[in-house]
Amino acid sequence: MKTAVVTGATSGIGNYVLKSLLREGYKVFAGYRDIKHKKELMILSDDVIPFRIDMTKKWTIEDAIKTISSSCEKIDVLVNAAGKVVAGPLETLSVDKVREQFEVNAFSHFELAQGLFDKLDGGKIINISSMASYGVFPFLAPYCASKRTLDMMFNSLRIETGTKVQIISVKPGVIATPLWEKSIDINKDNFGAGKYKIVGDYLVANAIRNSNSGLSPKTVANKVMEIIKAKNPKNSYTIGLDAFCVEMLSRLPQCIIDRIVEEQLRKKVAAQLDKVLLTGVVQKTVEPEKEESAEVEEDTVVENSENPDERLEAALQEAMAEENS
Ligand SMILES: NC(=O)c1ccc[n+]([C@@H]2O[C@H](COP(=O)([O-])OP(=O)(O)OC[C@H]3O[C@@H](n4cnc5c(N)ncnc54)[C@H](OP(=O)(O)O)[C@@H]3O)[C@@H](O)[C@H]2O)c1
Repeated sequence: MKTAVVTGATSGIGNYVLKSLLREGYKVFAGYRDIKHKKELMILSDDVIPFRIDMTKKWTIEDAIKTISSSCEKIDVLVNAAGKVVAGPLETLSVDKVREQFEVNAFSHFELAQGLFDKLDGGKIINISSMASYGVFPFLAPYCASKRTLDMMFNSLRIETGTKVQIISVKPGVIATPLWEKSIDINKDNFGAGKYKIVGDYLVANAIRNSNSGLSPKTVANKVMEIIKAKNPKNSYTIGLDAFCVEMLSRLPQCIIDRIVEEQLRKKVAAQLDKVLLTGVVQKTVEPEKEESAEVEEDTVVENSENPDERLEAALQEAMAEENS
C-alpha cells in the first residue's frame, strides 16, 4: 500500500487531495490544526491517520515528524497544502504577522520536508504554492513573498539533492475555497480606518468574489493526482488562465510590471469604491516610477494604449511572443 502525507487536509484543496488519494488506495497521514477536525478525518476511512500539526508551533512539527516516521517505512508523496493569506499595507503592517505568514506558508513546510526527507527517497514532494509566487499583488506582499520563499527553498533543495526526491510546485490561480473568507477575518484589523481603508474594503469584496468565482479545488486535486502518477513530472505547474497570465506578466521588465499592476489596482478599486480617495492612495506610488519608465514608453506596444486592459493584453502577447521565439 502506498503512503502519502497531506498537510492542510481538513479544508479546501488539501481535503480534496486527501479524498483523491484515498480513492487511489493510499494510506494517508492527514494533518489537522484544530482538534475539532480530527473526527471528520477519522470517519473518512480506516486508511486515514490523522496527525496534529500547527505550522506556527515548532514542537507540533517535530512531533508530526516523529509520529509519521515511526509508523511507516517509506513515504511516496508529501503534499504541502496548509496555508493562509496575510494581507495589509507594508507601511504599517505588523512584522510579527509577516513572520507568521512565512512560518505557515514556507518555513514549516521546509522543516517538515527536512524531517521526512529520507523516508521520501524515490518519492515526491508537491507544494501547493500559488500564482502569488510570481509576486505581482500589492497589499498581498506577505502572501506573495511567503509563496516565493517556498518555491525558492524547494527549487534549491531539488538542485542540491538531485534525483533523490522529485519536488514539484503547483501554482493555482484563484480557487473557490474557504481560504478567502478566512482571510477577511485574519486581516480585518490590518488596513485601519485611515488612507488604506478603501483598499482593505476592496480586498474584502475581492475575497468574497474569489470564494464564489474561483476554479473548483477539485481541479487542483486532479492535477496533483496527475503529477503523482507521472514518471517525470515538470518542476512547476500553473493552474488556471489567471495564473498563466500572471506568470507571463512576471516575465516583463519590472518597470512595466509596476505600471500595469498600479493601473489595474487603481482601476479595480476605483470601479468598486471611491475614485477620489483611491487616487490619493495610489498616486503617491505611481509618481516616482514615471521617470524611470519614460525610456520604455517610446518603443513598447504596451505603452500605446490608454486602456489598462489593452496594455496588459499587449504586454502578455509580447511576453508570449518572446517566450516562443
Ligand atoms: N484558494 C485559492 O485561491 C488558492 C490559490 C492558490 C494557492 N492556494 C494555496 O492552497 C493551499 C490550500 O488552501 P485552500 O485554498 O485549500 O484554503 P483552505 O480551505 O483555507 O485550507 C487551508 C488549510 O490549511 C490549514 N492551515 C491554516 N493555517 C494552519 C496552521 N497554522 N497550521 C496547520 N494548518 C493550517 C487549514 O486548517 P484550518 O482550517 O484549521 O485553519 C486548512 O486545512 C494554501 O497553501 C493556499 O495558499 C490557494
